[in-house]
Amino acid sequence: MNRKKIALIGGGQIGGVLAQLIAQKELGDVVLFDIVEDMPQGKTLDIAEASRVDQFDVSLNGTNDYKDISGADLVIVTAGLPRKPGMSRDDLLTTNAGIMKQVAEAVRDNAPDSIVIIISNPLDAMVTLFQKVSGFPHERVIGQAGILDSSRFSTFIAWELGVSVKDVNAMVLGGHGDTMVPLVRYANVNGVPVMEMLERKYGDEAKAKEVIDAMVNRTKMAGGEVVKLLKTGSAFYSPASSAIQMAEAIIKDEKRLLPTCAYLDTEYDAGGYFVGVPTVLGASGIEKVVEVSLNEEESAAFEKSLNAVKGLVSDMERLGF
Ligand code: APR
Repeated sequence: MNRKKIALIGGGQIGGVLAQLIAQKELGDVVLFDIVEDMPQGKTLDIAEASRVDQFDVSLNGTNDYKDISGADLVIVTAGLPRKPGMSRDDLLTTNAGIMKQVAEAVRDNAPDSIVIIISNPLDAMVTLFQKVSGFPHERVIGQAGILDSSRFSTFIAWELGVSVKDVNAMVLGGHGDTMVPLVRYANVNGVPVMEMLERKYGDEAKAKEVIDAMVNRTKMAGGEVVKLLKTGSAFYSPASSAIQMAEAIIKDEKRLLPTCAYLDTEYDAGGYFVGVPTVLGASGIEKVVEVSLNEEESAAFEKSLNAVKGLVSDMERLGF
C-alpha cells in the first residue's frame, strides 16, 4: 500500500499527540522532527510499541535530521514556544518567527511539494511568514485556529443548552487572538438557532444576550484559560485534534467546509492577508474560500480582527522577518 508520508515539525506536547492520532487513524507514515536530541525518537518508539494494542500499521520515525522529511505529502508545524501564564499569543512573536523562518526554509528544501498546516503561534503571523519564506502556493499553506476556536464555542453552547455537542454547528472567524469573531447569528443546533433556544430557555431576550455574550467571551479567552490552569504550557489535545481534522480532509480529499486560516486575495476585502474564514479543504489544500454574508456588526468585528492581524504582520516585518 502506498501510504502518505506525514512530517511533524516539533515533537513537543502537540507534536506527540499528533503522532499518536495519525497512527491510531492510520492516516499515514509519521516522521517526527525536533531539534531536541533523542526525544522524537523516544516518543515515536513509545507510540509504535502500542501498535499491537491499538491495531495500526504505519511506520513512526523520530529524527533530528530534516533530510528524513523528504518527499512528505503533508507537513504539520508546531515548532516554537508555547505560552506561559500571563502571556498573549502575540508575546511569542520574536522567538517563534525566528524558529518559523528556519522551519520554512527546511520544508521548502526537503519537502517542496507538501501541503503545510501551521499550528505555532501567533498563528496568523506564523502562517504568513511560512508562506513568504517558502514561496509555496497560497493554497498549500494553511493555519489551524478556526476549527479549535469553533469547537470551544460549540462545547460551551452544548453545555449551556444541555444538548449533544455533536449537533452544535458554530463557527469562529477572524484572527486567532482576542479579536476573533464567533458568529452567533449562524450558530445552530441541527438547524435550530442557538439564540432562539436561549430565548426560550430564559424567556427573556436580554438574559439570552447576556448568556451568549459570556460564551463568546469565554471562547475568545479559552486558550488563556487552559494556559492558566496548566501553568507550564498551552493547550495541546484540542489543537492536535483540530489539525487532524484538517489533515484527514486533505488526505482523504473530503472537501470539508471548515474554518481555517487561509490566504485572502479579494475575498472579505482582506487584500492579501492570511486570516480565519470558512474554506473547502481537499487534496489540493484550500480548494475554495467560502464567503458568508456578514451584517454590519459582524463586518465591523471581522475588520477589527483583520486589522489586528495586519498589525501583527507589520510588527513582524519591523522585526526584520
Ligand atoms: N525547529 C524544530 N523544532 C523546534 C525548534 C526549531 N527551531 N525550536 C523549538 N522546537 C520544538 C521544541 O523543542 C519543542 O519540542 O518545538 C516543540 C514545541 O513543543 P512544546 O514546547 O511542547 O509546545 P506545544 O504545546 O506543542 O505548542 C507548540 O503550538 O499552539 C501553539 O502556542 C503554541 O507555538 C506553540 C506551538
